[in-house]
Amino acid sequence: MNAVLRPASAAPSGPVEWQPLTVAWVERILPIEQQVYSHPWTRGNFIDSLSAGHWGWVAVEADEPVAYWVAMAVLDEVHLLNLAVARDRWGQGWGQAALGHLLDVSRQRGAAQVWLEVRVSNARAQALYARNGFEPMGLRRGYYPVNGVQREDARLMRRVLKAPTA
Ligand SMILES: CC(C)(COP(=O)(O)OP(=O)(O)OC[C@H]1O[C@@H](n2cnc3c(N)ncnc32)[C@H](O)[C@@H]1OP(=O)(O)O)[C@@H](O)C(=O)NCCC(=O)NCCS
Repeated sequence: MNAVLRPASAAPSGPVEWQPLTVAWVERILPIEQQVYSHPWTRGNFIDSLSAGHWGWVAVEADEPVAYWVAMAVLDEVHLLNLAVARDRWGQGWGQAALGHLLDVSRQRGAAQVWLEVRVSNARAQALYARNGFEPMGLRRGYYPVNGVQREDARLMRRVLKAPTA
């Protein structure tokens, strides 16, 4: 009842092609980053992240980047640093595909937990994370910039992948 009809053809069809995030891909995803965030990462932020050994993957369709994520692993915990979908592809399952890929990679590498921060105003992303088993773990006050004066809280969320061993 009252289901919102969406064009099924718009969803990722078949398996999504994931490629490692390289410097060449950084150039191609910067326009997406600048389109979807009020405070986008710079080229330097991405390069520094890759240089630090963080994980980065890009979903590619017909040679075009559609979505990407970057995460940092510390011991058996993964911290999601960035996850985004090209603005004209929202609502087609790419966010779900990106988060699913992050969880798959994290499991394959033996992670026990995945953590992230999200703006408290970002209901869309929080809904995506909640649907995927992320639980709210508290707030980080004033974590994000809004303008020169105001700041916004982050909601800290965690998804447990493996029960802790005694
Ligand atoms: C948050 C974000 C990643 C979500 O991406 P998305 O591609 O729109 O996410 P999905 O399509 O997987 O899911 C969102 C919606 O599409 C619907 N959907 C999921 N799979 C679908 C499919 N196969 N076909 C059609 N619709 C689908 C979901 O039900 C959901 O609907 P809802 O918004 O009404 O609840 C995207 O909005 C974004 O890039 N935002 C800017 C960056 C950002 O905020 N990142 C998070 C930082 S913490």
